[in-house]
Amino acid sequence: MPDADPAATNPHDHAPAAPPTPFTHVVYFEPRIAGNTGSAIRLAAVTGARLHLVEPLGFDLSEAKLKRAGLDYHDLAVMDVHPSFDAALDALPGARVFAFTAHATTSYADVAYEPGDVLLFGPEPTGLPDDVLDHPRVTDRVKIPMLPSRRSLNLTNAASIVVYEAWRQAGFAGA
Ligand SMILES: C[S@@+](CC[C@H](N)C(=O)[O-])C[C@H]1O[C@@H](n2cnc3c(N)ncnc32)[C@H](O)[C@@H]1O
Repeated sequence: MPDADPAATNPHDHAPAAPPTPFTHVVYFEPRIAGNTGSAIRLAAVTGARLHLVEPLGFDLSEAKLKRAGLDYHDLAVMDVHPSFDAALDALPGARVFAFTAHATTSYADVAYEPGDVLLFGPEPTGLPDDVLDHPRVTDRVKIPMLPSRRSLNLTNAASIVVYEAWRQAGFAGA
């Protein structure tokens, strides 16, 4: 009988193997609405992006709205929660940070995304505060184009557009 391959998948372990280096990190700064974060967890689970939530959150992570998004243990495994913005940045040393705001000149479609980039999104009611937008770790502010006089996209609609563009540029790695 051949020796067992130590790298082979254990047939009794049903957990999907997480990609070692996510093609991108998505950071939600102080998100307020559970349903948006539930959708983002699912977005991370299906693409291999890694989701980071910066506290304080506007909801409890055990809320039904998160579970209603159809999440289970394996989906939740793609998420980290950080006590502050600086703690999140410390967990992502050296990475480029793109801050998403409708009030920017660079379009998300003109960014050449690199593995490990951080895509930073703001809270639903207010968007990213000035001290975060001005943070020295922020590489650039980036917009998703909209028609004139429109305020903004939904948070996770915005994140989905950018995550899929970054993943497309990475050749849909792992899909
Ligand atoms: C619901 S929006 C916040 C709305 C807030 N009133 C504002 O004007 O920024 C939540 C987050 O989604 C992202 N977002 C929404 N629309 C966007 C756009 N057109 N371009 C870039 N980011 C956008 C931003 O990160 C924003 O902080």
